[in-house]
Amino acid sequence: MILPMYIFGQPVLRKVAEEVEEGTPKLKELIQNMFETLRKSEGVGLAAPQVGLSMRLFIVDLDCLSEDHPEYKGYLKTFINPEIVEESEEEVSYEEGCLSVPGIHENVKRPKRVLVNYLDEDFKEHEEWFDDFPARVIQHENDHLDGKMFIDHLGPLRKQMLKSKLVAMTKNKFSASYKCKPNK
Ligand code: NI
Repeated sequence: MILPMYIFGQPVLRKVAEEVEEGTPKLKELIQNMFETLRKSEGVGLAAPQVGLSMRLFIVDLDCLSEDHPEYKGYLKTFINPEIVEESEEEVSYEEGCLSVPGIHENVKRPKRVLVNYLDEDFKEHEEWFDDFPARVIQHENDHLDGKMFIDHLGPLRKQMLKSKLVAMTKNKFSASYKCKPNK
């Protein structure tokens, strides 16, 4: 089932999400629906608050890039109650976008590598280093669980330049190729 995307202006995107408890009903179904929604909207990561759920859960699908990047074949990961426990001092800048902020793409500086502790869809614990592109996607999605968005990382000048576009978004004046939940 395709879930409607919550767009900038929706309060749930600014909330600190709740920990997910083992045995949460229909969790696997939700994860399945999130993967389906992400695939349809041609994104690489999706956090639960983006579909209106204040839960510490996000998914990453890099398999969609595997035609050009064979190393990402089958790269579908679920992160439940994730925690970034260590990050590299080295930072890299790379262009980001967000399904909840349609039409805006900006360079964001982030640590190049992160050590992440998380539970997978079976509540099995992992602690793993991620580098480069996967590290970037994970940091972007993890921010969503703390009510943060990539635009928060921009400098004051860039923020000022995007302001009118963001205000328009809160009034449902934007275009997206996927189903969105209207802002009130
Ligand atoms: Ni995002």
